[in-house]
Amino acid sequence: MKPDDFQFLATLVKERSGLVLTQDKAYLLESRLMPVARKRGMKGLEELVSTLRARMDNALADEITEAMTTNESFFFRDIKPFDIFKDTVLPNLLKTRAHKKSFRIWCAAASSGQEPYSIAMVLKEAAAQLAGWRYEIIGTDISKEMLDKAQAGLYSQFEVQRGLPVQHLVKYFKKRDDLWQIDSSLRGMVQYKEFNLLDDMKALGTFDVVFCRNVLIYFDQQTKGEVLGKMAQQMADDGVLYLGGAETVLGISDAFKPVQGLRGVYARTSGTGSLGDGADTGPAKPAANPNVGATGFQKPKHMREGRPPLGAGTAAPARPGAAGATPPRPAGVPRPTTSPAPRPAGTGLPPRPGAPRPGAAGSSTGTTRPLPPRPPVKKP
Ligand SMILES: C[S@@+](CC[C@H](N)C(=O)[O-])C[C@H]1O[C@@H](n2cnc3c(N)ncnc32)[C@H](O)[C@@H]1O
Repeated sequence: MKPDDFQFLATLVKERSGLVLTQDKAYLLESRLMPVARKRGMKGLEELVSTLRARMDNALADEITEAMTTNESFFFRDIKPFDIFKDTVLPNLLKTRAHKKSFRIWCAAASSGQEPYSIAMVLKEAAAQLAGWRYEIIGTDISKEMLDKAQAGLYSQFEVQRGLPVQHLVKYFKKRDDLWQIDSSLRGMVQYKEFNLLDDMKALGTFDVVFCRNVLIYFDQQTKGEVLGKMAQQMADDGVLYLGGAETVLGISDAFKPVQGLRGVYARTSGTGSLGDGADTGPAKPAANPNVGATGFQKPKHMREGRPPLGAGTAAPARPGAAGATPPRPAGVPRPTTSPAPRPAGTGLPPRPGAPRPGAAGSSTGTTRPLPPRPPVKKP
């Protein structure tokens, strides 16, 4: 592929999604975009680019962007975050939201649904404690294809074998030909909406818990900071944010700070501390109660018992070139200033359509889209 064409496509994808494509990902661009070009009767990427250069086709640009997303996900991914949710975050919600008996959870990069359904299964298992409570789980993603799959709740044998306890498979899934479908009661617990993290988040409302896992790693430092800053505004003062194992807020955003003892969990810096104590936390201070972290959460069981956490030592801080490290910005790709990104001079690209599309979360007409079930699609 000509360097110019690569640059054009990388800039288009970055402006529309925040995803950074470095030159070493040229092979990925080719393998993912050749089917898009062929589907439109084009010979190859050169024709794809020249068509877009001649006239920007937003539907085609969206298709290109979507094709470049990485959608890997699995049930109870990394396990620990869900244990923390069950043992610490949920009990805190039950305590601090007892007056209103309601809470909202946002899965901000829901992909094919394994993450929101894992949360739904935890809540289902806690049904007795949640009797009389109202709660929402909103799963959003930029990929329509993934949202279709999530909504259908159909998974291959391979997918249900990744992370899902066999008791949960038996209890919550039904065989449909060679696929497994998650129970309609669990499907009904999650509302799926198309939403781009670069867009204005205000219309989404306020959340008590946000899962934004394994998506920021694909963004550059500035975009990560902007997304985290906006996200903080959409969270309750004592809300908690989950990031992926290779992600952090440190050095990226001061809107959040890590919750001591709860790896991967972050609290709002300007907030009331935690779901547990409602107190201002400021810089982490040693807790008076040795079983309670500085932010008021009860420390997880392994810490109270002085054991190392499960999988301790496996996650490392971001290194150059590692997942979670800031990918280098491709030459010539300008930094976005605000969201939606303005058109950088000289790229020939129109601005990313700023207003959320109809039906997308964040638009005033945003609704859960009724989507027909369809079999999973595998990207090359
Ligand atoms: C690797 S998956 C992570 C799925 C899940 N959170 C997990 O940890 O298993 C990343 C997801 O982020 C989505 N994504 C990428 N850029 C996005 C954006 N700008 N807005 C919303 N979603 C985005 C992709 O479509 C993809 O489904």
